[in-house]
Amino acid sequence: EKGGWPTFMKKEISEEPEAVGKTLIGRIVDGAVHLPELESFDGLLTDIDRIVVLACGTAAYASLVGKYAIESWARIPVDVELSHEFHYRDPVIGERTLVVSVSQSGETMDTLLAVQYAKKHGARTLSICNTQGATIPRESDAVLYTHAGPEVAVASTKAFVAQITALYLLGLHLATIRGTLDAPAVSALVEELQNLPAKLDQVVETSGERIADFARWMGDVQSVLFLGRHAGYPIALEGALKLKELAYIHAEGFAAGELKHGPIALIEPGQLVIVIVPSPRDPNSLHPKVISNIQEIRARGARVIAVAEIGDVEVLPFADEVIRIPLAGPLFEPLLAVVPLHVFAMELATAKGLDVDQPRNLAKSVTVE
Ligand code: M6R
Repeated sequence: EKGGWPTFMKKEISEEPEAVGKTLIGRIVDGAVHLPELESFDGLLTDIDRIVVLACGTAAYASLVGKYAIESWARIPVDVELSHEFHYRDPVIGERTLVVSVSQSGETMDTLLAVQYAKKHGARTLSICNTQGATIPRESDAVLYTHAGPEVAVASTKAFVAQITALYLLGLHLATIRGTLDAPAVSALVEELQNLPAKLDQVVETSGERIADFARWMGDVQSVLFLGRHAGYPIALEGALKLKELAYIHAEGFAAGELKHGPIALIEPGQLVIVIVPSPRDPNSLHPKVISNIQEIRARGARVIAVAEIGDVEVLPFADEVIRIPLAGPLFEPLLAVVPLHVFAMELATAKGLDVDQPRNLAKSVTVE
């Protein structure tokens, strides 16, 4: 039920804060992560030497964000694989590989086949899924449900932030049992997670109208590039996918550092580029590098919309428009930065008079190979 909202997608974007909040419920006790769902793995989680994450589309981009966090916190190598590429290339997996599948529907055939292959080759399998009792969780050794609630619009939005939340819980759980983070460090990160729903609320409230305004003057845009770095890179990929799916506009996401290795050749006067700008507060911040990328593309005539944290004044002289997000740690910013990109794709599609909930040629769950 749309409950008064004009589209399911608009409703589901407004539920992104709640999707994170509900995925955390019952899983944090006294500042520590509590995941009884993983008890059946016993000693395995201390023994694994590698994690392979299997997913498609938006779920694969959520998985890539998870990779940045899990590697940093739990010091385990994480490979994110598109499910449909995985089992057709004789991948290296074994008993010390934990295979994590990420799927909103739990019915994506490509991911199901990849999970079955991994099981057959000795890996233990964990499903991160939003749909109770779906096929992929039933075929897996354990399941960590996301609690985003039913997602109806074909474009995945609230499930994306819930998937990242579940992967972060997994990362903090692994860091705890493997001793790579001490209790105060875990508790500080847990607090950042718990602060996310309120910050997401703020983004949902503030980004809507401004973006609807841009979308009206951008109705005829032919191509949009998205740039991000570190965990902002998968967010750029996600922003581009949403724009293709919903507004049928050519869009590409790039790692900002990759610009000079090719994509900068695409920049010509008027090219619209959306840049996810990391916070300048972190001493190791990539902020100066991303600002210099913006200068390079502006010098070639690009129009730049920056998604930057509140108080980042350094970005102002270089961007045509700035969308603000609240302050958060480097691994938590991406969850905030994605909301304006979801809104942007929805508003551009709406401005073009398109069906936002049911874009052409797409199905909500892809149950064939
Ligand atoms: O149900 P799943 O999470 O397995 O679906 C994976 C993709 O098909 C899905 O995320 C798709 O990319 C969406 N349409 C993206 O908005």
